[in-house]
Amino acid sequence: MSELEKMEAELVQLTKQLAEFLSLAPTERSIPGFAKIWRPISRYRVQLRTALQDHGSILSDPRYRDAKGSEIQQRVGYNAAHTRLRLWPRIEDMVNRQITPEAKHLMPQPTEYMDGAHNRFVNHIYAALHTLALPSAEAMLNLISDAHPDIALPATHFEALVHAAYRICLAQGRTTPPRFLDVGCGGGTKIWAALPYFPDASGLENNPTQVQVGAAAMAKLNAPAGCIMEADARRFFDYSSYDVIYFYQPLKDLDGLREMEDQILEQARPGTILIAPYAAFSAAEGDLRCSRIAPSIYVAGLAPSQTEKLCARAEMIGTDAPEHSNSFDAALGYWRPVVDASRRNGYTL
Ligand SMILES: C[S@@+](CC[C@H](N)C(=O)[O-])C[C@H]1O[C@@H](n2cnc3c(N)ncnc32)[C@H](O)[C@@H]1O
Repeated sequence: MSELEKMEAELVQLTKQLAEFLSLAPTERSIPGFAKIWRPISRYRVQLRTALQDHGSILSDPRYRDAKGSEIQQRVGYNAAHTRLRLWPRIEDMVNRQITPEAKHLMPQPTEYMDGAHNRFVNHIYAALHTLALPSAEAMLNLISDAHPDIALPATHFEALVHAAYRICLAQGRTTPPRFLDVGCGGGTKIWAALPYFPDASGLENNPTQVQVGAAAMAKLNAPAGCIMEADARRFFDYSSYDVIYFYQPLKDLDGLREMEDQILEQARPGTILIAPYAAFSAAEGDLRCSRIAPSIYVAGLAPSQTEKLCARAEMIGTDAPEHSNSFDAALGYWRPVVDASRRNGYTL
């Protein structure tokens, strides 16, 4: 084992302690507690830099290369060690933000996600994507009469909702990746938009023409195969398989809408997050089957007092958007426990 490898192996033990510290409830974390763990870690920084320089010179020596595997392998390992060293300031910043975090509301004010040039630009682009995934006007003549055809929730409003749902999922400490469902998904563009937060996302739609056009659009985007299911939301019997259920008033007819809402509320498992961004949602108030955690967001099967506690925990979760990169993760080495613990707290690099 080289000096570099030895140091990196020692560091893993220390970064595991840091990950344990980050896994404490925010109220139990303290600046002195952090300093005690961080000090021994930071001593390695200069030593690692020196060891990397030495290692770099050894790598240029052909005798060493021949004795220790291919040059490419050696270079890959060396570059990964360099990446880890370069991550140091970003790791420090990410960890610092978690020592004494402040509560942040689950949903921002509507002006924050709807107003301003950037939001308007994103919504303008999204509107085009939505239109491209709709059937032609001719094909739309087949539309089922009580459906709401082409009204899409603006992308920036949707992003605020899924981000809040993601933070709630983190606060729930789920052990498996949450499954997201868009009920009445049209062309599937909200499935696509949900993927960065919920890689296991799908939708159901009862208009066969829309299913066909949407599925073709999703296939072009390389969305998960079969992510649009053809089904009637009022007669769908698998709502209990999902952890986050989004429904944006797919039916015009209020009786049909109630039927769909009842199916969802009766089947959803306790703790399921329901996103219902419309005024006519029948369970918005005083329905024992769910309680409101944030504007347009509800939790199934929880009493209001339990939802309040969950909300307090979720508001302490960081607001960084999740990141998924297998190649980046593979190079994290001794930082991996810290990055994983931070992701569970809602913080990323
Ligand atoms: C208002 S669009 C919503 C699109 C997308 N979910 C969004 O939020 O942007 C409603 C969609 O629900 C579909 N829909 C209407 N009734 C339905 C039903 N009973 N079951 C499944 N989908 C339905 C419509 O065909 C339409 O594509």
